[in-house]
Amino acid sequence: MSPARSQHVQSRLQAVVDTAVDGVMVIDAFGAVLMFNPACERMFGYRAEDVLGQNVKMLMPEPYQSGHDAYLRNYRESGERKIIGIGREVLGRKKNGATFPMDLSVGEAFEDDRPIFVGIIRDLTERKAAEKALRESAERMRAVVETAVDGVILIDAFGNILMFNPACERLFGYKAREVIGHNVRMLMPSPYRDEHDAYIANYRKTGEAKIIGIGREVTALRKDGSTFPMDLSVGEAKQEGESIFVGVIHDLSARKRTEEQLAQAQKMETVGQLSGGIAHDFNNLLTVILGNAEALSIRLKAREDLRHLADNIANAAERGAQLTQRLLAFSRRQILQPTAIDCNALVENMQVLLRRTLREDIDLRVAVAPQPVFALADAAQLESALLNLALNAQDAMPKGGALTLTTEEIELDPDSLGPGVDVRAGRYVSVCVTDDGSGMDAETLARAFEPFFTTKEVGKGSGLGLSMVYGFAKQSNGQVTIYSEPGLGTSVRLYLPAADAEAEPTQQRQLDLPMAPRGKEAVLVVEDDAFVRSHVISSLESLGYRVMIASDGREALGMLQSGARPALLFTDVVMPGGINGWQLAEEARTLAPELKVLFTSGYPLESLTSRDQVDPNALMLTKPYRKAELARRVREALDEPD
Ligand SMILES: Nc1ncnc2c1ncn2[C@@H]1O[C@H](COP(=O)(O)OP(=O)(O)OP(=O)(O)O)[C@@H](O)[C@H]1O
Ligand SMILES: [Mg+2]
Repeated sequence: MSPARSQHVQSRLQAVVDTAVDGVMVIDAFGAVLMFNPACERMFGYRAEDVLGQNVKMLMPEPYQSGHDAYLRNYRESGERKIIGIGREVLGRKKNGATFPMDLSVGEAFEDDRPIFVGIIRDLTERKAAEKALRESAERMRAVVETAVDGVILIDAFGNILMFNPACERLFGYKAREVIGHNVRMLMPSPYRDEHDAYIANYRKTGEAKIIGIGREVTALRKDGSTFPMDLSVGEAKQEGESIFVGVIHDLSARKRTEEQLAQAQKMETVGQLSGGIAHDFNNLLTVILGNAEALSIRLKAREDLRHLADNIANAAERGAQLTQRLLAFSRRQILQPTAIDCNALVENMQVLLRRTLREDIDLRVAVAPQPVFALADAAQLESALLNLALNAQDAMPKGGALTLTTEEIELDPDSLGPGVDVRAGRYVSVCVTDDGSGMDAETLARAFEPFFTTKEVGKGSGLGLSMVYGFAKQSNGQVTIYSEPGLGTSVRLYLPAADAEAEPTQQRQLDLPMAPRGKEAVLVVEDDAFVRSHVISSLESLGYRVMIASDGREALGMLQSGARPALLFTDVVMPGGINGWQLAEEARTLAPELKVLFTSGYPLESLTSRDQVDPNALMLTKPYRKAELARRVREALDEPD
């Protein structure tokens, strides 16, 4: 090689070393630095003259620094190489003491027969930082997906499932490994399942999106074959040029259930108001029909053929009255006189009645709580509710079966009876009627409490039995639940607020007395309905009483203020004109303290001061009533001790 060419080679090599982005360093076999290029100066923060001739270990942090002499000695003595010709990731030490990761590759050469080592150094600081950032962001993403309450699912452009987070596992009942790699169709019920391939293909061809980027409510299929409503939003992303789709799934089951329950409650409320209003007007009409039919029947004593007709009218009116009574019960507008009821005793007493009423093939069993249980409710209505439930049970067991009545006392909190069944926290008495009959399917169960809902043939059922039970339970601040399995039987459970002890003995209602008691006292009748008024007047007069009349509370008070002194005030509870029966009675008693009072009503209105309940001591005559009952109650009221 000519000296000029050798000169050129030399200067080019120098250029390579000076301009290299990577550090280039040369050391001898004892570690003395022979070359330290500008890239090295930038990386380590030393100038070349600070380093040249020094031991290379100054560029290493501990413990490598202390180990390096021995390493080189070992190499010189045995030729054993650890790094030479290989390259690896090590730590460098800067002038300011800081360390940094670097990739070091070392080659071996000879100069004057002595080995020298060439190190090429690449600073890894930035790459390490980028890798760390990537790792952290991937970890954060994974944490979000793993812990998300909503389901996250990833599919490729062919519908194959790529990812299925733990929320999805909970929602669908599949483990991720059971679905990954399979087509997402498996999570859809028919007919969507069969349309999905065509949908994805069409989207790939035309870009026409039905759900991507939009989201909507769809139905999902669980592993066990059941379905649930979900809100699905789908986003599209690109991975190496191919579309992937990210679905986020929000379970709507709970919301749907609440919505349905709310709609059901609203429906019951509306139907209740409607039927309550109708029933109230009907009651007034029936009162008149019943009264007149009875009057006719008495006068037709001599005409057996005609009297029979009048009796038919009275019987039909009474049946009508029973129906309207159940409607009123459903709409929570019946008059309740709650007392502390010994439920064990009541159930045991009813056993006798039920044995007589029910068919022979019904095996009646009673299992009451070992200790006495007292509920605050209207005893007559509770009996009527239990009778209704027993009759339903009998109807559900056409071939006979077991009917069990049980009582127990339990503590409830608002969630005890499941979602949507609202109940105040506290102690309750549960009275339960269970049969092993036909049970109810889901549709029947959902509608069982609705008035006029019946599965029985025309003439067999009016569909008011459970409605009455429902209204009674609600109006008594209790609840009623049904548990039923088709083919296995039904259990209807009434919850009534527990009472502490027996406040007063429950009185048996006697309906008819052989002889209507009479009297001569003056009775002030306050009644807004003209028909009912005329009927009451004629009934009372025929019993011997002197009758004064007022059509509302104001008029009645006026009469008392101007000196009228009847022995009895017989007043409707619900009246127009701003003064209801309760208020009238109160004011009347301040004017005439010795005045006796008898109330009558078809129902108590919400507007009354004591909303659903009546002072249990108030004397009350429920419309419609027979003349005999009117006579008895009027006498009772007049004869009450002061
Ligand atoms: N114990 C039961 N077992 C099976 N089905 C029942 C039972 N109780 C009620 N049902 C179903 O609920 C429906 C409504 O009952 P509900 O007592 O309100 O009316 P009903 O018995 O049909 O008529 P009503 O009681 O007015 O004579 C019934 O027609 C029946 O389908
Ligand atoms: Mg029934």
